[in-house]
Amino acid sequence: MKILVINGPNLNLLGEREPGVYGTETLDSINTGLKTLAEQSGAKIDFYQSNHEGDIVDKLHDCRTDSDCVILNAGAYTHYSYAIRDAIAAIKIPVIEVHLSNIHAREAFRENSVISAVCKGTVAGFGAYGYTMALQYALTLGKD
Ligand code: DQA
Repeated sequence: MKILVINGPNLNLLGEREPGVYGTETLDSINTGLKTLAEQSGAKIDFYQSNHEGDIVDKLHDCRTDSDCVILNAGAYTHYSYAIRDAIAAIKIPVIEVHLSNIHAREAFRENSVISAVCKGTVAGFGAYGYTMALQYALTLGKD
């Protein structure tokens, strides 16, 4: 079982970026917790962060042959990137959409996700714990 966690633009600044919205935990700290949980379950986990749309598209393509599941926080690309949407649709492995904040309770432009329809499911509004929830689901896939 191999899981890839992809974080999109501005998520490298977690911890200092709008802490009232996104919390005070850094991306490194979140990833360390996910690594511990994955390894306890005998799964492999990799992490990727990019602020660039095409790099995220490339990573989704590249992981399709060596990963079993992707956990993706596409950041603001969630709301308008048809390229990332199409990349998710193009690959066969499940992609779980994660947002720290409740995108439905914020500005109107965040309400719509153009990637939700091609993702396995969405976790939003639970802060960093949302990544753990997504990982817990991903780990059940290895038990099929
Ligand atoms: C986010 C929500 C997006 O609207 C925003 O652009 C982000 C982070 C979240 O995790 O809550 O960068 O994906």
